[in-house]
Amino acid sequence: MRISVIGCGYLGTVHAACMATLGHEVIGYDVDTHKVAALSRGEAPFFEPGLPELLQELAPTNRLTFTDSVADVQGADVHFVCVGTPQKAGENAADMTYVDTAMADLLKVVEPGQVVAGKSTVPVGTAERLAAQLAAEVPEATLVWNPEFLREGFAVKDTLHPDRLVYGLPEGAAGESAKELLNTVYAAPLAEGTPLVETDYATAQLVKVAANSFLATKISFINAMAELCESTGADVVRLADAIGHDERIGRRFLNAGLGFGGGCLPKDIRAFMARAGELGVDQALTFLREVDSINLRRRVRMVDLAREVCGGSIVGRRIAILGAAFKPNSDDVRDSPALSVAAQMQLQGADVVVTDPQAIPNARRKWPDLKFADSAEKAVEGAELVLLLTEWPEYVGLDPAALSTLVSGRRMLDGRNALDPAAWRAAGWTYRAL
Ligand code: UGA
Repeated sequence: MRISVIGCGYLGTVHAACMATLGHEVIGYDVDTHKVAALSRGEAPFFEPGLPELLQELAPTNRLTFTDSVADVQGADVHFVCVGTPQKAGENAADMTYVDTAMADLLKVVEPGQVVAGKSTVPVGTAERLAAQLAAEVPEATLVWNPEFLREGFAVKDTLHPDRLVYGLPEGAAGESAKELLNTVYAAPLAEGTPLVETDYATAQLVKVAANSFLATKISFINAMAELCESTGADVVRLADAIGHDERIGRRFLNAGLGFGGGCLPKDIRAFMARAGELGVDQALTFLREVDSINLRRRVRMVDLAREVCGGSIVGRRIAILGAAFKPNSDDVRDSPALSVAAQMQLQGADVVVTDPQAIPNARRKWPDLKFADSAEKAVEGAELVLLLTEWPEYVGLDPAALSTLVSGRRMLDGRNALDPAAWRAAGWTYRAL
């Protein structure tokens, strides 16, 4: 199949590379000429495990190309829309500018018989609107909604071996032939037994935000339990283990700590609430407001705990922060809980030094006033307090005895419940966790 991918961010680049790996001929389009140039050289423009290897493997095949000219995507059987839908400044709603621009671009090149497949996370109703635009310009082309569920850090695996595929299809013959086309695109995962859910546009769009809302709710639920645990001396990790043994609940996504960040969960639950408001059913989602506020409260609690451990004030105290990315195995700092805590502490007068194995360049761009160190050892040098805020394996594996010789005070705050408290205490550290 000939495939075009509109938008080469995390989603689009990984999708393009994976589709080429499956044997398709893929062209990725982006307006960012620097990104297109890097990708054309076979360089991944962001950190994603497995992606550089994939790009290198594909280079000699010529099955994967990139362009900054939309005219080049002409002739593709399927055009995947993979652009971002960030939160609008000062509002909860999603900014649809990139989706609308992508569609306007596509309308110049789409031909009869081709399929436009939306993958971006959008407010429900968007697919219907885009389908009407497409029908007005190219009546014989078909729009399908095919949401993406990949996680950063596992994006290649999630794309090649997804938990499920969802097709939002129009009724009738057009829907049937679009489905056949998508089945050819995804022949490999389907042959592996990946479940396929065929449905209408509205359901397909809602599946994505419902899934992310559920995941966010699970995290905030366990963080609410953590608040109870903290006030009663109970252990939220053991509690999660115990309730997680019940298969109806499940242990995954019950890791209590600093809460969720990133470019997806926070903005998706907010955009979902905003859309529910527009639809007149805002009451159905008021619980997501609580999910959001429990989540944000974790960041405040982290700063409060640091103050408590420092004897009432963090002013002038040298504090090391391990982690800047919103989660391990990513260089993404969008809505990073770690950086939000670091910035708060600095604002309150602490002498903060942040380190991260991958995210420092992105963090520095976003928070130029913060101080950064390029290793954990340098960050903790002379620190009176160390905070683990992103649970990179190299931080979880740090040797407390070795670190003792570098710090000026052995105080560890584990914001991700990732360390072994006994090992740190045995090495003479004051260990506290969220
Ligand atoms: C999330 C979803 O998991 C994907 O399925 C979805 O496709 C993606 O958003 C998207 O909409 O594009 P992602 O943002 O990459 O993926 O990251 P997650 O692995 O979901 O983690 C989100 C945040 O939750 C991180 O800050 C992580 O540290 C936090 N988290 C996760 C917890 O605090 N506790 C947990 O138990 C799990």
